[in-house]
Amino acid sequence: MERFVIRGGNKLNGTINISGAKNAALPIIAASVFSGEPCRIENIPEISDVRMMMKILRFIGAKVEAPEKGVIVVDPSGINPEITIPDEMTRKLRASYYLLGSLLSKYGTASVALPGGCYFGVRPIDQHIKAFEALGASVNTDNAIVNVKGEELYGSSIYLDVVSVGATINAMLAAVMAKGLTVIENAAREPHIVDLANFLNSMGADVRGAGTEVIKIRGVENMHGCTYSIIPDQIEAGTYMVAAAAAGGDVIVNNVIPKHLESITNKLEDCGITVIEGDESVRIISEGKHPKACRVKTSPHPGFPTDMQPQFATLLCICNGTSTVVEDVWDNRFKYVDQLRRMGANIMVNGDTALITGVDALKAAPVEADDLRAGAAMVIAGLIAQGETYVENIKYIDRGYEDLIEKLSGVGADIKRVTYDED
Ligand code: UD1
Repeated sequence: MERFVIRGGNKLNGTINISGAKNAALPIIAASVFSGEPCRIENIPEISDVRMMMKILRFIGAKVEAPEKGVIVVDPSGINPEITIPDEMTRKLRASYYLLGSLLSKYGTASVALPGGCYFGVRPIDQHIKAFEALGASVNTDNAIVNVKGEELYGSSIYLDVVSVGATINAMLAAVMAKGLTVIENAAREPHIVDLANFLNSMGADVRGAGTEVIKIRGVENMHGCTYSIIPDQIEAGTYMVAAAAAGGDVIVNNVIPKHLESITNKLEDCGITVIEGDESVRIISEGKHPKACRVKTSPHPGFPTDMQPQFATLLCICNGTSTVVEDVWDNRFKYVDQLRRMGANIMVNGDTALITGVDALKAAPVEADDLRAGAAMVIAGLIAQGETYVENIKYIDRGYEDLIEKLSGVGADIKRVTYDED
């Protein structure tokens, strides 16, 4: 077994380089099936979610190689779309459901076990199914396997009832090779949706409007290989920005697109933290002592990301006064609060709202990563707590943060990965 051991109290100083975006890399790897030729994808983060997506592609017959750090080459020519992607693969990776859209569009058929992923409430896929059906596919779920079929797909108008990143991506993927024009309305606008559209267009697709709430896709008959570089990870960057704000110090978070970080930057400034934007960096300067309380509400992009909610709530635990956090995307994303309470945090949760009254300091305790971002929150809590914090269940953190120990140690944190015997 492995855990992180963190001795809190160090200020952070220096530069952290941000890796490629997990939430862009996963759909882009799934979309590489469209080309008849190899695609070279750069700035790929080395994280377990990406390794699982590569494993799934190999399982269905693609050749996937990693010739150097941060680069993969996918040759999809050997794919057999009749192979069912089983539960033991999809349970660990929610993004496996993007293969429903891409295999359907390219080969007219896909069978993927219902996806798992982090649990923060019911995670339906009704809008994905609605999109496939609108394009003329038939969808049935048998024995927890989603089967989609549609030899001939036709462009259509798809109105998503909720703003869903996953459903927007699957609708885009399914429409790429459908005949005629597809219009997706009420689309999500996250940076990774724009990145996917850019990747698809580099392969010869015709996708317009990504980043707005109306995406128009004109189906194409053939696509080709390309070389593409993934955008920097907005949430990884945001996590280190908040870590620096909470621990105090002077940190340059480098290789980012500052525009993607604006909602996080604004909230840090509300707390009285200094954020200086560069061309490809943001610099965080913080005393680390009791920033101001503030109000945070999660919402789809360009709002405050739900994936930053646990980390930001951890900063608010040591702010001056009472802060409010409203979770407006998921109905059960405060599970990690119990762990922070073990460290002395004063948090009351009522439905979708957490009231956080700042305490003088958090105190070290053994805590669990309940999911990926909750795990990141535990790391931040450990960095600011008095004493030695053990973070267990770190497999969740490894799903989404490349070289976390190296990056944090590089700016002065006392954090290590320790292997231990369960007995
Ligand atoms: C969401 C986040 C994304 C984050 C991810 C993991 C938003 C808009 N999306 O993406 O930034 O990386 O969680 O934390 O903030 N829904 C349906 N039916 C569907 C699909 C979704 O009702 O078919 C609902 C969900 O229950 C949820 C909301 O739509 O309340 C957003 O879901 P969605 O964007 O699909 O989730 P993810 O793609 O996982």
